[in-house]
Amino acid sequence: MKNKKIREIIKRKNKKPIVCLTAYSKSIAEILDKHCDIVLVGDSLGTVLYGMKSTREVTLDMIINHAKSVKRGISKSIMLIDMPYQTYRNKKEAYLNAKKIIKATSCNGLKLEGGKKIASTIKYLTKKGIPVMGHIGLLPQSEKGKFKFKGRSSVERKKIIDDAKSLSAAGVFAIVIECVEEKLAKIISKTISVPTIGIGASKHCDGQILVTDDLVGLSSFEPRFVRKYSDLKKIINKSVLRFRNDVIKKKFPSRKNIY
Ligand code: KIV
Repeated sequence: MKNKKIREIIKRKNKKPIVCLTAYSKSIAEILDKHCDIVLVGDSLGTVLYGMKSTREVTLDMIINHAKSVKRGISKSIMLIDMPYQTYRNKKEAYLNAKKIIKATSCNGLKLEGGKKIASTIKYLTKKGIPVMGHIGLLPQSEKGKFKFKGRSSVERKKIIDDAKSLSAAGVFAIVIECVEEKLAKIISKTISVPTIGIGASKHCDGQILVTDDLVGLSSFEPRFVRKYSDLKKIINKSVLRFRNDVIKKKFPSRKNIY
């Protein structure tokens, strides 16, 4: 049985676009909660926050700890958590780790990367009542080398469509489509009955997701699918410089800041 919030997301297929962003901490989650339908504790935290080479280095404990912080900032939106690399290599492992994450964080569901290959694992989880979001197209946990958009060849396009169909049949409530060619994203969105959430996958998806740090200009990652809405690095840099100057010139603290 999927809970009410998840059922509401499924109903948004072909309707009002679904707004999703990532959060790794309470302070950001509090801001996102007012504006997003879904807040994802993504394993992108490995590369974005910890400066790791790949998301493969993210552990279960890391994602659980960040999710606990995010949860404290959420009151209305859906909180999803990425299952880290090698925590769902078979059905039993996936179920044990999924239960561990849900118990520790009270999240609303989990996201797993992969298509047809992991469909039976996802079916096992959804049958046990765990809401799962799929993730197809570019898969950062499996990718070797430079990230390139998917759907260049007809073989690749067919594989991604098959992946989407398998996940849909396995009972996912939505699927993230990452970095795929526009026409392919449109076909997938028209083919499957659950909402598609795009990241670099065109406006034909039922919703969009971005890494919050990219959109506010906190990361240095600027692929073409990101729109940078602010430049927080610049703002923080200016603030820190002003603080530094005030400290050196003994302008801080002032009378207002002392007891
Ligand atoms: O890890 C992540 O943040 C993600 C989203 C960008 C889709 O998987």
